[in-house]
Amino acid sequence: MAGLKYMSGFGNEFSSEDPRCPGSLPEGQNNPQVCPYGLYAEQLSGSAFTCPRPANKRSWLYRVLPSVKHKPFSPAPRGDLTESWEEAEPDPNQMRWLPFTIPTSSDTKVDFVAGLHTLCGAGDAKSRNGICIHVYTCNTSMEDRCFNNSDGDFLIVPQQGELLITTEFGKMMVEPNEIAVIQQGMRFSVDVSGPTRGYVLEVYGAHYELPDLGPIGANGLANPRDFLCPVAWYEDRQVSTGYTVVNKYQGKLFTCEQDFSPFNVVAWHGNYTPYKYGLENFMVINSVSFDHADPSIFTVLTAKSTRPGVAIADFVIFPPRWGVADRTFRPPYYHRNCMSEFMGLIKGHYEAKEEGFQPGGGSLHSIMTPHGPDAECFEKNTTSTLKPERVAEGTMAFMFESSFSMAVTKWGLKTCERLDKSYYHCWEHLRSHFNPNWRPSKQ
Ligand SMILES: [Fe+2]
Repeated sequence: MAGLKYMSGFGNEFSSEDPRCPGSLPEGQNNPQVCPYGLYAEQLSGSAFTCPRPANKRSWLYRVLPSVKHKPFSPAPRGDLTESWEEAEPDPNQMRWLPFTIPTSSDTKVDFVAGLHTLCGAGDAKSRNGICIHVYTCNTSMEDRCFNNSDGDFLIVPQQGELLITTEFGKMMVEPNEIAVIQQGMRFSVDVSGPTRGYVLEVYGAHYELPDLGPIGANGLANPRDFLCPVAWYEDRQVSTGYTVVNKYQGKLFTCEQDFSPFNVVAWHGNYTPYKYGLENFMVINSVSFDHADPSIFTVLTAKSTRPGVAIADFVIFPPRWGVADRTFRPPYYHRNCMSEFMGLIKGHYEAKEEGFQPGGGSLHSIMTPHGPDAECFEKNTTSTLKPERVAEGTMAFMFESSFSMAVTKWGLKTCERLDKSYYHCWEHLRSHFNPNWRPSKQ
């Protein structure tokens, strides 16, 4: 949406007032006896009160009515959203999904929340440790209905169709090749403008942060200044027919009614906000001599576990870049990993599998499940002449990499009807090149 303004910086202490109400942020204190314009003060805490400063997250919202004014919550249908990891038998096979089907609007109207389908995950919201990967497919905007997640943070990766996300902090337009993060507890509503599809990485018990850079230094990968956060925007709108708040709580959905819009925050300040990021801003670092850096070099955001260096989940991208490594098999190497790797494709073709892995689809290589380039990719790249070349031009693939051993849901295995049973064929044609008579060439 043209004209939307943002503030830049990752995790800054921001302040914002809707320009219609100058002076609406209290000065010098959070909780005046009476707030400017007769507003209510409300704190949204994103971390324990006592977290060390670098991890301490909270925002103060100054709103027309506090969010506590609502009718009781009651259980609501949750469609294909689940946290039941026992509904299907474990399956260690390589999995690949064809593009997930978007419902046509002449068929059924499906909004962002109704269109959330859990594909895989592990852990549990109650003990605050876990992960879910969801796919969303929808065709209609949320009307007088907002969502908030009491369980965790949503990292949203649009693949088709832009999302106009109205939040308590203001509005964000998020297009394919951008991502948005809506953190735990933040109310939001999604408008779409047609058939819409994307991915959601949900984590419990941690917030996304920028990865440490180590010897890379102070700059590079996703730079903090490229993260954008909305500016305050409010509506003082009565909804006599009822405004519905959908709350994801302990893996289930609940709804409650209130008679006003929850987007009534006139001013706010704090460091706990929704934000977005354009993936084209990612500064790619890679080998300029030989061999590969591990794919962690492509990490945009990480949700850390309590074990040093081990993520609940990393969000990793494979952007357009130069491939220049000498005497190197340049596509991804064959590997088995103690982490789970879910991949999706926003646009273009992924280099290790030119066919079969399509935009809007996905793949899952579970813990210690072998994977790597298909046979065709191997043959091509062991015989090609190495010269500097563009890799992944016009493409954006991504990976959700997790230390959890994820269960695939019944929806992912059966209901979606997109699981490609022929996936393993792409490695069937790998043949032995072993020659016991081979000798090193004399220099
Ligand atoms: Fe992998």
